[in-house]
Amino acid sequence: MMKNSRIEHLFDYPFQKLAKLLEGLTPPADLKPLLMHLGEPQLSPPSFVADTMASNQDLWNRYPSARGTVDFRGAATNWLIRRFRLPTAMVAPERNLLPLPGTKEGIFQLAQLAVPGPEDWIGGEQPAVLMSNPTYHVYKGAAVMSGAEPILVPATAERNFLPDFEAVGRDVLNRTALIYLCNPSNPQGTVADRDYLGRLIALARRHNFIVAFDECYTEIYRENAPTGALEVCAALGGSLENVTVFHSLSKRSSSAGLRSGFVVGEPALIDAFAMLRSTGGAVVPLPVLAASAALWRDDRHADRIRAHYTALFDMAERILGNRTGFYKPPAGFFLWLDVADGETATRDLWRDYAVKTIPGAYFAYPDPMTGENPGSRYIRIALVHEGDDAEKGLMRIADYLGD
Ligand SMILES: Cc1ncc(COP(=O)(O)O)c(C=O)c1O
Repeated sequence: MMKNSRIEHLFDYPFQKLAKLLEGLTPPADLKPLLMHLGEPQLSPPSFVADTMASNQDLWNRYPSARGTVDFRGAATNWLIRRFRLPTAMVAPERNLLPLPGTKEGIFQLAQLAVPGPEDWIGGEQPAVLMSNPTYHVYKGAAVMSGAEPILVPATAERNFLPDFEAVGRDVLNRTALIYLCNPSNPQGTVADRDYLGRLIALARRHNFIVAFDECYTEIYRENAPTGALEVCAALGGSLENVTVFHSLSKRSSSAGLRSGFVVGEPALIDAFAMLRSTGGAVVPLPVLAASAALWRDDRHADRIRAHYTALFDMAERILGNRTGFYKPPAGFFLWLDVADGETATRDLWRDYAVKTIPGAYFAYPDPMTGENPGSRYIRIALVHEGDDAEKGLMRIADYLGD
């Protein structure tokens, strides 16, 4: 049977590796298992989500359009204008914005739009897709399945966990089709500033590739609201050339199960995206679009959710603040904790303390120059639980780490 052998690369899935690492280990029976490996928000979304879905239940029998509704596009655009202080005419809801069933699928599909097939390779060279190392595994999967070479650029503590894409050689940049940047980043919770974002957009325009700004954590911050790529585009004159931006309700509104997000880009790219999605994508159902519009219109629940994470990170600082590997990330909901050997700590924490975390190495790949995996010293801890469970988990981790 013929098959696409690229699929083999996807079996590198972080959570599959974790299951293998923990195989055969049994946590103590008297301890409640605390699952801190998964970045799944545990708070409930506001009750008006269910109410809005119920009041739109007559729409379940209708096929939605890939373009969504006027109501959804308007609410999402107004949120962008409010949150990023954009000029009102910069994002045209009908031309620049497309709803997505959560952003993961769109992030994956963008590589199919951006990466040329062999018939269009410039000078016969395989196109490249760049991303940080550690990375979100979907970026790498998208690059591989589109036929591009994934190139992972180190994002280590010495550089505030930001990849230096400008330092990648000109030969690579000239065959780059797409760069994925998660900002604020998963897993480290680092925030790229205005200058960094501006330089990346300028680089994309110079070498004519697309940057996908994945901003699904932009509402989960401690003190200062992270700058968005669209704000920087506005400051550079308002063009969306070479830029796409992804936003999601999964973290902002604690609504991962709703599967709702959107992408912003130039009209030609949004048209192509809509065509790709009409052909082979799941479109967002009309009652979900109605509930999503209500969520984008409301900032109060997002403030409440943000305050919840701020309290959890204050708690983490109280409990773990004096450990050498600890730092409090300015955004996101993960602790990226330097424990010297992430795999050993993950096994020990599960076997002896019933706390499930995930080795940082599973989000990263060995550097081709040094052979070092930039995640291997770390574990990733998702701070997404209600206060009691989060506190228990952090106390057990502190106990394991000792003084
Ligand atoms: C970095 C990053 N990007 C994108 C996503 C996709 O989120 P969703 O599809 O729920 O919008 C996630 C989800 O965990 C993520 O961590």
